[in-house]
Amino acid sequence: MLILRWKSHTTRHVQLFSANMGRQLDIHLHTKWGNEMRLQDRVAIVTGSGSGIRKTMVKRFTEEGASVVIADINQEAVDTVVRELKEAGRTALGFKVDVTNRSELKELMKTTASKFGRIDILVNNAGVTRNRPFQTMNGEDWDFVLRVDLKGVFYCVQAVAEYMINQRYGKIVNISSTLGTGTTPGVGSGTYNYAAAKAGVIQLTKTLARELGPHGINVNCVAPGNVGKSTFHSTRTPQEMEKHLALRRSLTVLNRTGTLEEIANAVLFLVSDESSFISGQLLCVDGGRTDRM
Ligand SMILES: NC(=O)c1ccc[n+]([C@@H]2O[C@H](COP(=O)([O-])OP(=O)(O)OC[C@H]3O[C@@H](n4cnc5c(N)ncnc54)[C@H](O)[C@@H]3O)[C@@H](O)[C@H]2O)c1
Repeated sequence: MLILRWKSHTTRHVQLFSANMGRQLDIHLHTKWGNEMRLQDRVAIVTGSGSGIRKTMVKRFTEEGASVVIADINQEAVDTVVRELKEAGRTALGFKVDVTNRSELKELMKTTASKFGRIDILVNNAGVTRNRPFQTMNGEDWDFVLRVDLKGVFYCVQAVAEYMINQRYGKIVNISSTLGTGTTPGVGSGTYNYAAAKAGVIQLTKTLARELGPHGINVNCVAPGNVGKSTFHSTRTPQEMEKHLALRRSLTVLNRTGTLEEIANAVLFLVSDESSFISGQLLCVDGGRTDRM
């Protein structure tokens, strides 16, 4: 006779017990049921929008039980993502915001907290590029990218901090880039401003982790490698893009580009309680880039 024992509804741990053989088999199920989703009842703000990484990320968050706030400078993109999520039966709120504008960020946090009662997660994903040949990059190009990609991250964390400190709980993930971790011949040419900003995000993560850790807030950083034909490379012709992707593939130990889901899964881990003892860390999700190893 086989007896099935439910060891725990929260750990998905069941035991099969064979009475006549006196043997027991422990099984950890990889299915979800009941209310054991990884972000159950969490409230997450994700900055940046469009059809890129963020869209996949918020979808994953809502699948795991979170309510999400779509915060982007592009109203149309905000409306589209919120509509899609609501059609799928998820809880989502849209907010048009410029991450470099402190008063708009204050409003974002206030509105989120009054609608949902708390703010558990912030993902600083908004980003811009303005690549230029070395001699022609001017101060405006430099300031534009540094303002959004680096100062914007700091402003967002400053704005959310009081809410997370008050509840003594918070998960912050900043999105950097492998271009902020090293250089490669033929990759990232003209990205002086972007690479500097993304490198800054890594060190900013560490200082913020130190500042906010005593308040129960984890701050980590994800550096995505190349994830295929994103809007980030739209200045290239199709032929240039193919050449570029072939080079990027050859630079990884896994010999391929990544997927948006693979980035989203890494961020999901860092905003869930599975990573509760991790803070101030950089997680490179890049297929093992050989130029960094
Ligand atoms: N796609 C890649 O291959 C890749 C690789 C490494 C790192 N990243 C990083 O991942 C993040 C997302 O990349 P993506 O490919 O999804 O980009 P994306 O262009 O699809 O999305 C970026 C979003 O940021 C928003 N945004 C721009 N300025 C803003 C501002 N001032 N305030 C609020 N929102 C603003 C844009 O409207 C856009 O929706 C970025 O931080 C990027 O640097 C991407």
